[in-house]
Amino acid sequence: MAGSSKFQHSEMDHKALLQSDALYQYILETSVYPREPEAMKELREFLNMLLKLINAKNTMEIGVYTGYSLLATALALPHDGKILAMDINRENYEIGLPLIEKAGSLIRLILEREKYHGSFDFVFVDADKNNYINYHKRLIDLVKVGGLIGYDNTLWNGSVTVPADTPMAQYIRNSRGFVIELNSALAVDPRIEICMLPVGDGVTLCRRIS
Ligand SMILES: C[S@@+](CC[C@H](N)C(=O)[O-])C[C@H]1O[C@@H](n2cnc3c(N)ncnc32)[C@H](O)[C@@H]1O
Repeated sequence: MAGSSKFQHSEMDHKALLQSDALYQYILETSVYPREPEAMKELREFLNMLLKLINAKNTMEIGVYTGYSLLATALALPHDGKILAMDINRENYEIGLPLIEKAGSLIRLILEREKYHGSFDFVFVDADKNNYINYHKRLIDLVKVGGLIGYDNTLWNGSVTVPADTPMAQYIRNSRGFVIELNSALAVDPRIEICMLPVGDGVTLCRRIS
């Protein structure tokens, strides 16, 4: 978890290499932040604000990749917060792990989920789009009443509104139908209130109400 004591530790680590915090900040400002794609920045800032607004403590992320949104989540949680993170590809996650550890995050990869029923404040889903509907069937029991599930990419590169024969990248075409199906299913699910946000590639927030 993000913790101030761990941050102090990481500051000391990079100081040893770089002599000063100012130099580290300089690297971030000159070569990291300016290259962060706008959609990723938007998503990072949005997640941060949202998690703080709902006082999230116990969260889950499905689809970690190298841990970008995972780190954004970890930085917004309180010191005793938790993230249950899952990805089918461990290699990508291990590329990002040193950076996440440096920021003082703790990730636990746990597969059995029965004991977590109704226990999550927030779940972020950014994995295989063809399974979003299946995730929803399970996640609705895992998130607490009043908690949120966020589905990323629900505008799917804008493809959800264009005619099916519009030229588009194959990976967009492959999942377009699944995303449209998800959006329709969420719209009529009486267990949730939904809000579709034009953030990044579209994030649908579902608040469990029953
Ligand atoms: C778009 S990336 C996630 C990006 C990450 N949320 C971020 O913002 O940094 C999608 C990830 O979903 C993972 N994934 C695909 N199918 C999955 C599955 N069935 N279960 C868990 N993860 C899966 C992929 O391995 C990939 O790392």
